[in-house]
Amino acid sequence: MCSRRGGVSVGGVIEVDGLTKRYGAVSAVDGVSFVARPGVVTGFLGPNGAGKSTTMRILLGLASADSGQALLSGRSYREIERPLCEVGALLECAAPHRGRSGYAHLLWLARSHGIGVQRVREVLGLVGLEDAARRRVGGYSQGMRQRLGLAAALLGDPGIVVLDEPANGLDPEGIRWLRGLLRGLAGEGRTVLVSSHLIGEVARTADRLVVVARGRLVADADTADFTGDLEDEFLRLTGGAR
Ligand SMILES: Nc1ncnc2c1ncn2[C@@H]1O[C@H](COP(=O)(O)OP(=O)(O)OP(=O)(O)O)[C@@H](O)[C@H]1O
Ligand SMILES: [Mg+2]
Repeated sequence: MCSRRGGVSVGGVIEVDGLTKRYGAVSAVDGVSFVARPGVVTGFLGPNGAGKSTTMRILLGLASADSGQALLSGRSYREIERPLCEVGALLECAAPHRGRSGYAHLLWLARSHGIGVQRVREVLGLVGLEDAARRRVGGYSQGMRQRLGLAAALLGDPGIVVLDEPANGLDPEGIRWLRGLLRGLAGEGRTVLVSSHLIGEVARTADRLVVVARGRLVADADTADFTGDLEDEFLRLTGGAR
C-alpha cells in the first residue's frame, strides 16, 4: 500500500545534472541540468527531437545516461522501492494491453502495489473515464488513452508527477481540465514536470519553463520572466534547432 502522508503528499525535488545521451551521431541530450521543485509546475519545452522524451526516459530508468545523472528525491528511479507511490509517469507510446478494459488495466497496476479497488474508481472519476472503464482499451480514442495514462500516473497518489506531452489527443475541454489538474497537483505540494512543444499552452499552466533545443538547455526561468510574444521567444531560443 502507498502511505497517504496524512492526505497531503509532498513532492521531492527532481534534479537533472549534466545529463548526456548520444544515439550514434545524434546528441539526444547534451549536458542538460535543471531542477523541478515541489509545489511548482515545471514546463519542459522544446521542438520535436529536442531531447525531452529522452531526458524523461532516463529520469524514469528506461534509458541509461552516458554521463550525468537524473535523480528523484535524491535517488535514481531504479532505487525507488514502490515507484507508483512516489513517481507518477505518463510517457509517449506507453500503450496498455489493447484487449483489456481500462478498469482491468488500472486494477492490474494497483494490485502490483497493494493499492485498493477504491483508488482505481477514484482515479477513473478524476480523469472522467467512468463510463468507458469497462470497454476494451483497443477501442479507446487517443484522448481516452491519454486519460487512462493519466489515471495510471495518479494511481499511487505520488508526490512527483512526470508527464510527457500529456495534452496530446485531448480536446479543448480536456486541455482545460488538464490545466486544472496540474495546477491542483502542484497546489497540493507535488512536483510536476510536464513536457510540451507548445509554449503557449504550457505557459498558461507552468510556473517555470525549462527549454531545450538540439539536446541543450537554452532557457530556465520563471514563466513570468518570459515577456513579449511567447511563440516568438520560443522560436528565437530554439531557432534553427533541427
Ligand atoms: N532509441 C533511440 N534511438 C536512436 N535515436 C533516438 C532514440 N531516442 C531518441 N533518439 C533521437 O534523439 C533525439 C531526441 O529525441 P526525443 O524523442 O528525446 O525528442 P523530443 O524532444 O521528445 O521530441 P518530440 O517533441 O518530437 O517528442 C532525436 O534526434 C531522436 O531521433
Ligand atoms: Mg517526445
